[in-house]
This record gives sequence, C-alpha cells and structure tokens, in this order.
Amino acid sequence: MNADIDVTGVRLVTERLILRPFEKKDLDDLYQYASVEGVGEMAGWSHHRSKEESAEILSTFMEEKKTFAVVLKESGKVIGSIGVERYSPDALTEAFYLLKGREIGYVLSRDYWGRGLIPEGVLAVISYCFDTLGYDFLCCGHALTNLQSQRVCEKCGFSFLKETDYYLRSGESRRSCMNVLLSPKRFGRDTYE
Ligand SMILES: CC(C)(COP(=O)(O)OP(=O)(O)OC[C@H]1O[C@@H](n2cnc3c(N)ncnc32)[C@H](O)[C@@H]1OP(=O)(O)O)[C@@H](O)C(=O)NCCC(=O)NCCS
Repeated sequence: MNADIDVTGVRLVTERLILRPFEKKDLDDLYQYASVEGVGEMAGWSHHRSKEESAEILSTFMEEKKTFAVVLKESGKVIGSIGVERYSPDALTEAFYLLKGREIGYVLSRDYWGRGLIPEGVLAVISYCFDTLGYDFLCCGHALTNLQSQRVCEKCGFSFLKETDYYLRSGESRRSCMNVLLSPKRFGRDTYE
C-alpha cells in the first residue's frame, strides 16, 4: 500500500546537497532546468514551455508535499527534484500488497549530470523513508531505455523486480522496468543484496 508522506519542515543534508520542500522563490531555478528539451521527456513528462507552466508545477509540489527540491550547497541553487511518489500496485507483485512503501522519482538539471549528485540525494531520502518514516520498501521505475536512471537505481541498492507498462498522461505507454529496495531494518540486508 502507498505509505504517507509530508515533507513539510524536512531538511536532509548530504555532503554536497540540501533536500528541502519547494518554495515560491524556486520558480526561476525550476524553470531553468525543467524547460530544457529532452530532460523531462526521459522521465515521462514534457519540458516546460513557459514560466507559467513551471509556476503551476511549483504550486503542485508545494500543495502535495511529497517532493524535495535538490539544492546544491555551494551555490544555493535548486538543480533538481526527488519525489516520494504514489506507485501503481500493478507495477509491483502480490508480495508487496500489504507492505508500506512509495516510489522514488528524480530529475536533475542537465548541467550537473554525471557527478553522482542524484544517487547522493536518493540515498538520503532512502534513509529518511526507512529510518524515520518506517517504510517497508521503496520502488523506482524507469523506461527500459533510460540507462542513466538504471545506474542510479543500481548505485542506490535497488534490485530489478519486473518489466511493466508505464502509462504517460498522454495515454501512451512505455515499456519500463520496476526496481525495489526492502527496508534493511525490517527485512535484514541479505534479502535484497
Ligand atoms: C537520471 C539522472 C537523475 C541521473 O542523475 P546523475 O546525478 O547524473 O546520476 P549519476 O551521476 O550517478 O550518473 C548516472 C549515469 O548517467 C550516465 N551519464 C552521466 N553523465 C552523463 C551525460 N552527461 N550524458 C549522458 N549520460 C550520462 C552515466 O552512465 C552514469 O553512470 P556511471 O556513473 O556508472 O557512469 C539524470 O540523468 C536525469 O535527470 N535524467 C533525466 C530525468 C530522468 O531520467 N529521471 C528518471 C526518470 S525514471
């Protein structure tokens, strides 16, 4: 089942990043990375065509309280996001039906790719979900062709569960791959390594 999440007041600090809820002042930074063609498309959403579109998404982030802004410590700039999203039960197997979890989703400004920043942020979110919120599992899906996201999953300890069809807002589907990570506290490390 989908677990509860509310990132209000949460601040996760890693070596290079601060993860915190989105704020109104983040609009320019959000528009800057989300308007680059080809980046959002890898995650199943279209790049933003206007600052108004980014403002709507920003309001949604602030209302839904499930998305962390990824702030680069050295500049204070928001360079991406990590969401603790609802998953579709069909994307998992029966073994997960009674367990409590969520799906991790992420995007990073193209200017910062390849420095291990998202794995660093995702590891902090994983610790928060397991150690503070007591989740049983996390999952993370990506298009079969998205090898960059696959590498993030591998680096963060997720294991392949199954192939699935992921439906975009447009109604189109994409062949995707679902990965899972069980809480080491609840299940012991051996079960997923
Ligand atoms: C997926 C994403 C968040 C990875 O973030 P990141 O901080 O760059 O992650 P990493 O630095 O660990 O890089 C992951 C892999 O991307 C690849 N990569 C790195 N830099 C790259 C670049 N400039 N161009 C293409 N691929 C690159 C490498 O294969 C790397 O794996 P490696 O470290 O084993 O070589 C980022 O690529 C992104 O925002 N992509 C678009 C949105 C998206 O796909 N979201 C996930 C939806 S499921």
